[in-house]
Amino acid sequence: MIAGLSLYKKYHADKEYTSIGLFRRLNKVYKIERVLYPGCHVHITPSLIFSDVTYVDSFRNTYRFYEAADVKEFISSHKEYEAEASIHFYQQDYNKELPAGENQFDLIISQYAGFVGQATKKYLKHKGLLVCNNSHGDASLAYLDNDYELIAVYNRKSDESFTISDKNLDTYFIPMKGAHPTKEAITQSMKGVGYTKSPGGYMFRKI
Ligand SMILES: C[S@@+](CC[C@H](N)C(=O)[O-])C[C@H]1O[C@@H](n2cnc3c(N)ncnc32)[C@H](O)[C@@H]1O
Repeated sequence: MIAGLSLYKKYHADKEYTSIGLFRRLNKVYKIERVLYPGCHVHITPSLIFSDVTYVDSFRNTYRFYEAADVKEFISSHKEYEAEASIHFYQQDYNKELPAGENQFDLIISQYAGFVGQATKKYLKHKGLLVCNNSHGDASLAYLDNDYELIAVYNRKSDESFTISDKNLDTYFIPMKGAHPTKEAITQSMKGVGYTKSPGGYMFRKI
């Protein structure tokens, strides 16, 4: 693996898939200080908007990316806040115990990385936010989970422009066919359920 900023360019910036517009919207709409991003790979965009982000990934040598001088320099020269960027990276399986304490984070990000919302729920503060898409069914599991309440959905217009809506929330999570699959069925298949409405992603609050 090549360590360094070229990876962020390759997987995110060059594809215009940084989702910076989503993080800006989240920062505007909600009060967020500490962020946890399990299954982050090299997606360091949250550190441009939030000053305190903890990243976790088990993919080999990913820690080298987070240690690279050009990555640190990029964050420091592109961040949209005054404070120093505080960045922690844990090279590990997010299902295993994290060095971070429980109930510490205001936001957990779950993007294309499995059942993050379930595995790392204990690190989220009471009333903290889980922002997830449904690529592997993480949003479906949160929907079925009494510890989470759906509070909004988001949609992507462009990388810079995302919308957040809390309207008609009861019209989401309606399966296109049959009854809603059980937690066990979703966990086994690791596939997002086909719904009549499919927003870009969902915001849940831990209750
Ligand atoms: C498809 S990538 C998505 C990366 C990033 N979230 C994004 O949106 O660009 C999935 C990442 O999740 C990581 N991942 C999947 N399961 C994991 C686990 N149990 N513990 C730690 N990392 C995991 C993989 O190593 C990989 O880097």
